[in-house]
Amino acid sequence: MAERDLPRGRIVDILARGEPGTAVRVEGWVRTRRDSKGVTFLELNDGSCLANLQAVVDAASPVASAAAAASTGSSLVASGRLVASQGQGQRVELVPAALTLLQAAPPDYPLQKKRHSFEFLRSIAHLRVRSNTFGAVARVRNALFYATHRFFQERGFIFLQAPIITASDAEGAGEMFRVTTLDLERLAREAGALDWHADFFGRKAGLTVSGQLEAEVYALAFHDTYTFGPTFRAENSNTTRHAAEFWMIEPEIAFADLADNRALAEAFIKTVIGQTRETCAEDYAFFEQRIEPGLLAKLDGLLNAPFETITYSEAIGLLEAAGEPFEFPVAWGHDLQSEHERYLAEKKIGRPVFVIDYPKDIKAFYMRMNDDGRTVAAMDLLVPGLGEIIGGSQREERLEPLRARMAALRLPQEEYDWYLDLRRYGTVPHAGFGVGFERLLMYVTGMQNIRDVIPFPRTPGHVEF
Ligand code: 4AD
Ligand code: MG
Repeated sequence: MAERDLPRGRIVDILARGEPGTAVRVEGWVRTRRDSKGVTFLELNDGSCLANLQAVVDAASPVASAAAAASTGSSLVASGRLVASQGQGQRVELVPAALTLLQAAPPDYPLQKKRHSFEFLRSIAHLRVRSNTFGAVARVRNALFYATHRFFQERGFIFLQAPIITASDAEGAGEMFRVTTLDLERLAREAGALDWHADFFGRKAGLTVSGQLEAEVYALAFHDTYTFGPTFRAENSNTTRHAAEFWMIEPEIAFADLADNRALAEAFIKTVIGQTRETCAEDYAFFEQRIEPGLLAKLDGLLNAPFETITYSEAIGLLEAAGEPFEFPVAWGHDLQSEHERYLAEKKIGRPVFVIDYPKDIKAFYMRMNDDGRTVAAMDLLVPGLGEIIGGSQREERLEPLRARMAALRLPQEEYDWYLDLRRYGTVPHAGFGVGFERLLMYVTGMQNIRDVIPFPRTPGHVEF
């Protein structure tokens, strides 16, 4: 078979299993070229793994001139035989008999060998994914997606594709992006009153802040369901942990209480981390070495110990006794700030901790009222180094308490009538939670900024292509 007719080999497979003497064809990009004593070494990468396949071309080779022109960033197809590597660090290398340079990248290719700052790389989101760090993030992100679906599918959960355009503010926090076809420029010129009836949907609509309410519909038909999709929040929080567009995993389980909910969350986190540690071992080793020393021990610790649970009231007690100079005041009834969450998870408990039973006034309308009448069956999972990665609750499944709560919060009941129907017809105790997918990815990779774990970040004042 002519070498160019060989089936394509992926570099990850070649490095793992390629036998010296076999012919292969690779398609990829040049990471670096090095010339030494009449031999050219090309480091080839095709995104299938972190490691490069080294191609070795000597001066007498028919492809020597193509190799000499193969600058960093160039695209090429190379085929030839594998030989046992004489150098350190790889088992086999490629001796190309044919090398087609599809495009020689000019010297202004931004990803030259030197290390770039993450800030700079953010400004070239269309190219940064070809770097080691962002390649590793993308592969772990992909593996976590797969592990997530696998976890729920293996347990019989029905996957719900919750709508992205919605008329209900699921969190009741008013942080929705508006979806409209009204001519806003004309309206602004004419300074007329807004009439939503004239809008596309005949009413106010927005981008979803959560698929939870729809997931409750499915849970009350299928017992176990989950959503996994993009989520939008117009909160103006310019932090390293907030994005305007992020992904959320939201399971919802029927005939279940808060303890069942916690058990599911813990099993989920441990299973997907355990699985991706195996499938992405090379990438995790890179994060340990380059991003967060101690990462692997941290993940092992998480896998091998049960998560802790404390009540919100206990958390306040611990924070009051902490003697730490917190920026935000600690008092029963105030929400926990990120500094408080991190103190609890990092310094006090030292591992992931569920905080449960929050005051009703700082949580969403749908959470189930506890018997004390002032707290709700909420749960947040806090992890060291990051704070909250999961928020969830048992839901108020009783019609009258839910109505009373909605009335107290002045929610327009007619818009939630369908939601109340779930309490009128065949209601059961049920619970669920939302995992911030990017927060989870930050935790497992050690990356410190949410902008660096989502391919094309959207944050206040920033939307690039
Ligand atoms: O705590 P949240 O707001 O909970 C809900 O939306 C519920 N409806 C979930 C449920 O019970 N089904 O959000 C859940 C998680 C947070 O713990 C956080 O990890 C993540 O979503 N999150 C964000 N991640 C990135 N950027 C933002 N702006 C985020 N807001 C929330
Ligand atoms: Mg929350």
